[in-house]
Amino acid sequence: MAELHILKYPDSLLQKVSDEVTEIDQEVTAFINDLVETMRGSTCVGIAAPQVGRLQRIIVVDVTPKNPGHGELVLINPEITARSGKRKGREGCLSIPGFIANIKRSKKIELSALDRHGKPVEIEARGFEAVALQHEIDHLDGTLFLDHITDMKRDLLRRETVTD
Ligand code: NI
Repeated sequence: MAELHILKYPDSLLQKVSDEVTEIDQEVTAFINDLVETMRGSTCVGIAAPQVGRLQRIIVVDVTPKNPGHGELVLINPEITARSGKRKGREGCLSIPGFIANIKRSKKIELSALDRHGKPVEIEARGFEAVALQHEIDHLDGTLFLDHITDMKRDLLRRETVTD
């Protein structure tokens, strides 16, 4: 296993739409193990495959550090099937280090996906876990949390990034 290099904003791969996974073979399984290890080696509670430059619909979320009792979710081809409520909360992203913003998300979501063995799963999540899932699934469509904030705030961020 190996920790993978995390792409940083504004890398163009972060803005691409990822492909569905059609086969979970040994190579994909090895990649998932590396993705989990990469998340564990960071301070983040989630990671998506495109963040390490692989445009496939795979995410890992584990909010246990913030909400004890939750487990590790490895989800392949996740699709949100229902949403309810609204919730605003602070979000950061491994690909946008040093920046946190208040983002409005659905409070509760339902999703369908495949687990790491290819078994279909239905997940219901709320609160912080639901937010983490929405954030990571966004990555699969090339959407960053920045895309949810106003243009004015985004311009400010761009300027800060340039002078970094
Ligand atoms: Ni992120």
